[in-house]
Amino acid sequence: MAASGSAIGLGNLWKFPYITYTNNGGSFVLVYLACILIVGFPMMCAEILIGRRAQSSVAGAFGKLGYRGWGIVGWLGVLSGFVILGFYAVIAGWSLYSFYQCMNYSISGYETPDPKAFGAFVSNPTQQISLTFSFLLLTALIVYRGVSKGIEASAKILMPILLVILAWLAFTVTGLEGFGKAMEFLFKPDFAGFKAEAALEALGHSFFTLSLGMGAMITYGSYMSKKEKILPVSVTVVILDTIIALMACVIMFSIIFSFPEIQEKVGAEGGGSTVGMLFVTLPELFYTSMPYGRVVGPLFYVLVAFAALSSTISLLEVIVSSFVDKLNWNRRLATVVSSVLVFGLGICSALSLGANKSLSELKPLGSDNVFSERITGDKEGVLSILDHISANWLLPVGGLLITLFVGWALPKKASMEELFPGRETPPALYKAWLFFVRFVAPISIGWIIVAVISGKSFS
Ligand code: PHE
Repeated sequence: MAASGSAIGLGNLWKFPYITYTNNGGSFVLVYLACILIVGFPMMCAEILIGRRAQSSVAGAFGKLGYRGWGIVGWLGVLSGFVILGFYAVIAGWSLYSFYQCMNYSISGYETPDPKAFGAFVSNPTQQISLTFSFLLLTALIVYRGVSKGIEASAKILMPILLVILAWLAFTVTGLEGFGKAMEFLFKPDFAGFKAEAALEALGHSFFTLSLGMGAMITYGSYMSKKEKILPVSVTVVILDTIIALMACVIMFSIIFSFPEIQEKVGAEGGGSTVGMLFVTLPELFYTSMPYGRVVGPLFYVLVAFAALSSTISLLEVIVSSFVDKLNWNRRLATVVSSVLVFGLGICSALSLGANKSLSELKPLGSDNVFSERITGDKEGVLSILDHISANWLLPVGGLLITLFVGWALPKKASMEELFPGRETPPALYKAWLFFVRFVAPISIGWIIVAVISGKSFS
């Protein structure tokens, strides 16, 4: 449940719908699903098995298994933790604000918001910084007290409620006019103009959404008992995560295609509207077309906040457990130092949505050159750049190194013992998994990276 909590988060509810929207739907979804199946699932097993075998933080895991040189992969994971948390906490803060806004609607009645309201909200420095701060504080308090007790218990109750509410929302939107168009947009692939950059985005997102490529699952694997079976856990996490992401898309797009004013808002350049889809589109459904929407609205954003929290906890835990383990700090010092560093980065992200001009327009590799275009896409501003760099580069590269480690460096005996304990001869399933980890996953990741660098188009 804690692993599912880490996987299910803003990646599913916020990021997947908006990147699917900006990448033209169907073809992107198909490539994403292929990435989950071919790379994501085998990697999930691989990371959990490293963690459980090493019983150590990500920075210490490789050394503990006897491969000190690979320790750099662990530290790369710690770096990714900082980078991801540095923007994730800002978006997570928005869920607290949406909750507050929906409470207001529920009490004093819904008013269609001004199209510029979201742009004004994201460029308000005080609001952005205080929301980010609140969310990080909440995360730090829980990580300081230790992950297993609080988070596991609450994940057990809140995750199923989130699933039920999403199912209910999905059912409600089947009655909307735009439902058919949404299904077509999502599930009818059109590969015209499909570029390697979009494939990298799909691959990177499959890592991001499953919390792979940076050691979150290694860390959680280290808390897993020997009695637990790795394969069923991995299957459950991957399936739940994928279902929730697809449901979020169906809901969001059905609303967008049903209400033309929303489509205009989402399509509009500037103001971060595509990025804010989760926070802009849904209230309309709650308050105009949904039975009991006044109750469901605020509740939904509590759950979004919770889904985000169970992810930020796992991100901070990767950093904190590594500092405790490798620098011999106590948990309190590690939590305080890493949270302060993350908050520093968070402030830069929070101010990069319009509040501060140079942070909002930052293009670290310059503009108008091919190199910058391929590495950072068309992104600008600290928040978008951190998001892009982590998902498109840090996680795929981390993931590639982890598959190479499990596939080629770690002896087969070790992975066999973790995946199929007590079995002498490897079952077919093990052989298939090993084939994916050794060949299919690294070749796919490597191929996509090379395709992006050489500017390929798959249309
Ligand atoms: N998987 C989380 C989400 O989808 C984000 C995350 C990435 C968490 C990497 C931990 C590690 O929201």
